Amino acid sequence: MTFRILAMGGDGIGTEVLDQGIRLIDSLSTTYGVSIDITEDFLGGAAYDRFGTFCRDETVVRAKQSDAILVGAVGGPKWDGITMEGGPEMQDGLMRLRKELDCFAGLRPAKAFPVLEDRTPYRPGLASRADIMVLREMCGGAFFGVPRGVETDRDGKRVGFDNSLYTESEIVRIARVGFELARRRSGRLCSVDKANVMQTYVLWREVIREMATEYPDIELTVLYADNAAYQLARNPMAFDVIVGDNLFGDIFSDQAAVVCGSLGMLPSACLQHLPAENETARGIYEPVHGTAPDIAGLDQANPIGMLLTVAMMAEYSMGRSDLKQVIETAVERSLAEGIRTPDLGGSATSQEVTDAVIRHIRA
Ligand code: IPM
Ligand code: MG
Repeated sequence: MTFRILAMGGDGIGTEVLDQGIRLIDSLSTTYGVSIDITEDFLGGAAYDRFGTFCRDETVVRAKQSDAILVGAVGGPKWDGITMEGGPEMQDGLMRLRKELDCFAGLRPAKAFPVLEDRTPYRPGLASRADIMVLREMCGGAFFGVPRGVETDRDGKRVGFDNSLYTESEIVRIARVGFELARRRSGRLCSVDKANVMQTYVLWREVIREMATEYPDIELTVLYADNAAYQLARNPMAFDVIVGDNLFGDIFSDQAAVVCGSLGMLPSACLQHLPAENETARGIYEPVHGTAPDIAGLDQANPIGMLLTVAMMAEYSMGRSDLKQVIETAVERSLAEGIRTPDLGGSATSQEVTDAVIRHIRA
């Protein structure tokens, strides 16, 4: 069976890191004899410049026919002010894909690399064994709520507004993934909300507490997001799975990244469901870092976020946890050799880091 990937570099450093990801995939398929077919397409600003839309209908069709979608990064100042006709999902290529494919479960792991401890702002020992999984709801909440807009009131002053909304079943499905993930990890789940001020979060908290009775083996903590941000900054090793809505998940996944020494190290997966041990799920995979227009084209982007993203794809969409392990070990070995891009204090190029990782995979 051939594993089909739809690959889209997007914008800025997105295309460069995707190239490195594809090199890794090629080497895996040669070394391990897996049959992989990669189709490329445009997304984000790259799609807008060619076709006048951030994600074409054809791209959605192709994505639905693929086993996995691998994205570099999308967006940039050049396209920020553009407003497209249609709902919130039409304003951003990734958001459209997430919504159309209903990839609601965003898994954003932040695991510290002991060899990079001195690249973090933490005192020795405070974050060196941090192993956090931020689980972000990807298809609802304030990111997709309507009505929204900027309008002018009777006094000629502008008013901006959004709408945050969650149905019970949307909360149930993401919470279930949270409890299941916690069960596969260290058994702790922390839910973040603002139930002290907002009604969507009152429901969020209620539903998660109700579900906890089905998971007596999981230690559930519910925290207000402001307090959770403080606790996470102070003591990252106290956390395991953190589940949040689209907005808090977005924020906490960047914050958790601090333990890794660079945002360039972080992978992510958006899944249609959490597959059981012997199952797979379709997913959209992307490194967390974004397009970094300031270093685009310089071959300086840290490719590790992308390489670890390929590892997540191997685990969840290919059902090959063994390959995930192989990639992670190869990354650790190349970091230990000191082969690092400038964001990690090194001077290696993107290409060189990937070369080193591939060398360890072959070895
Ligand atoms: C992310 C990004 C995106 C998001 C942006 C680019 C729309 O911040 O994937 O975390 O907020 O979902
Ligand atoms: Mg983000």
